Amino acid sequence: MQIIDTDFLVIGSGVAGLRAAIELAQHGRVAIVTKDIPTESSTEYAQGGVAVALSDEDEVGIHFEDTIKAGDGLCKEDAVRVLVEEGPARILELIEWGAEFDKEGTRLSFTIEAAHSRRRILHAHGDSTGKELERVLINKVRTFKNIQRLQFCMAIDLIVEDGRCLGAYALKDGDIIAVHAKTTLLATGGVGQVFSRTTNPAVATGDGMAIAYRAGAILEDMEFVQFHPTVLFAPAAPQFLLSEAMRGEGAILRNIFKEPFMKNYHPDAELAPRDVVSRAIISEMVRTNSSNVYLDLTHREAEFLKKRFPRIYSTCLQYDLNITKDLIPVSPAAHYMMGGVKTDLNGATSIVGLYAAGEVACTGVHGANRLASNSLLEGLVYGYRAGVAAAQQGGQGSKVNCQERKTPDISVPDFVLEEVRTSLRRLMWEKVGIIRCGVSLNEAMEKLSEWKHIFETDFNTRRGLELKNMLTVGFLITRAALERKGSVGAHYRTDFKERGENWQRHIKVVKLAKGMTVL
Ligand code: FAD
Ligand code: SIN
Repeated sequence: MQIIDTDFLVIGSGVAGLRAAIELAQHGRVAIVTKDIPTESSTEYAQGGVAVALSDEDEVGIHFEDTIKAGDGLCKEDAVRVLVEEGPARILELIEWGAEFDKEGTRLSFTIEAAHSRRRILHAHGDSTGKELERVLINKVRTFKNIQRLQFCMAIDLIVEDGRCLGAYALKDGDIIAVHAKTTLLATGGVGQVFSRTTNPAVATGDGMAIAYRAGAILEDMEFVQFHPTVLFAPAAPQFLLSEAMRGEGAILRNIFKEPFMKNYHPDAELAPRDVVSRAIISEMVRTNSSNVYLDLTHREAEFLKKRFPRIYSTCLQYDLNITKDLIPVSPAAHYMMGGVKTDLNGATSIVGLYAAGEVACTGVHGANRLASNSLLEGLVYGYRAGVAAAQQGGQGSKVNCQERKTPDISVPDFVLEEVRTSLRRLMWEKVGIIRCGVSLNEAMEKLSEWKHIFETDFNTRRGLELKNMLTVGFLITRAALERKGSVGAHYRTDFKERGENWQRHIKVVKLAKGMTVL
């Protein structure tokens, strides 16, 4: 087995992993392993922007209030305070490194999205904010000679000895390798691929959460999955996001009879919190017996739209939809995971030597529903903090002595893996999606247990390993959703429409040696 020896291992090359690596590189050798090409990540596709209290009309205290309100009573206040207070410094630093956010004249241009009470969202190239962040961070990483980057290298499991994480096993060119490190940081992003409708790229299969769970780490808030209201719904078109910033710029939601309907559901109409808008769309689709609603920006000037949303304009045109003239068919899709590997304010998990940052982590900053455009900021702020803390701990030194791990010789036919993958994604969408109930969740649990043998198989392909992780994460989401007998934020149950007893608790899941999950 090939062994790579480093000081700090970072798993994932989105905003959180890259930001952490830049910090770690000032204290030792860093290896970044990433499953695909370095840019393939949710970060790369982020459209709307990054929320930060930097405009003249804004204050960190107001950003704090809006975040807490969107989180529907379950945000951890200290985590939110860190986010909003340290956010401006992380953004200004990014600008110093070359980030080009859009401007009006010489001043930064801020847009607004749902549940923000101020225009505070910076954007780049109109609707390609994430791409700009990824470009700047990768360029910065390239300036460090002590950062080694391994692409098409998929982390499989953590190396844990005597309760301490000492690196990870990974699949590279069909073989298992071991990366020994003093500290390891998970920055593997979200879980969108677990659902059949999602905005997330193919790499978002919940690997980091499943890996941490298998290693015995505590996960929290797994029932809270955010569904984005407006995702393209057209024959042969991909599940392409139509940014909330479009509603920020005045887009109206209309049902299939072309009637606006959001005012019937919430006083803030199109700018109501994301979970409210997603459920309103589902209600309207059911009421009008249709499979989509429309997003309408045709009342805005064509030149403005082409300049403000160039990526969305050109992508829609490829499917014969012109946002300046046509109503765009949309319906909701899984978008963001609020829960994840539980960390403290410095990214430390419940396993010594293991850190997590970004979407894979749960600092409690988003509560039950993330405020739009807060996650890129979270990646920067908490990626930085986790990098600082992991470097400090790594400096204390540790001896690495991991066991040989053989590449398993498993031959499950590809079509079996694909059948289970498709069925799982459909099951999660239909039974554990935007609107849930005890019956649907129990049906999902029953079906998931039929696939138990796949949870327990050691695969030797990316596709097989991903499926195992998707099943694990699907199980954890369903289990937590069953446990929360109430509706809060993005978790909505028709059999418990009120918040329920003890609604302010956070549900934790952990795997014990006997294989049990405790809540
Ligand atoms: P990611 O950027 O997803 O990076 C994860 C990395 O881990 C990838 O490099 C991946 O290849 C790698 N990886 C995964 N598994 C493994 C493994 N087993 N081994 C090795 N590597 C692995 N948020 C905002 O704040 N503003 C927005 O405008 C916005 N728009 C969005 C638009 C879209 C279409 C999507 C999908 C999300 C959007 N979000 C937005 C959410 C935001 O982009 C993400 O939450 C954020 O980028 C996550 O960053 P991350 O670094 O945690 O993970
Ligand atoms: C969007 O542009 O609508 C996505 C913003 C986000 O998820 O934060």
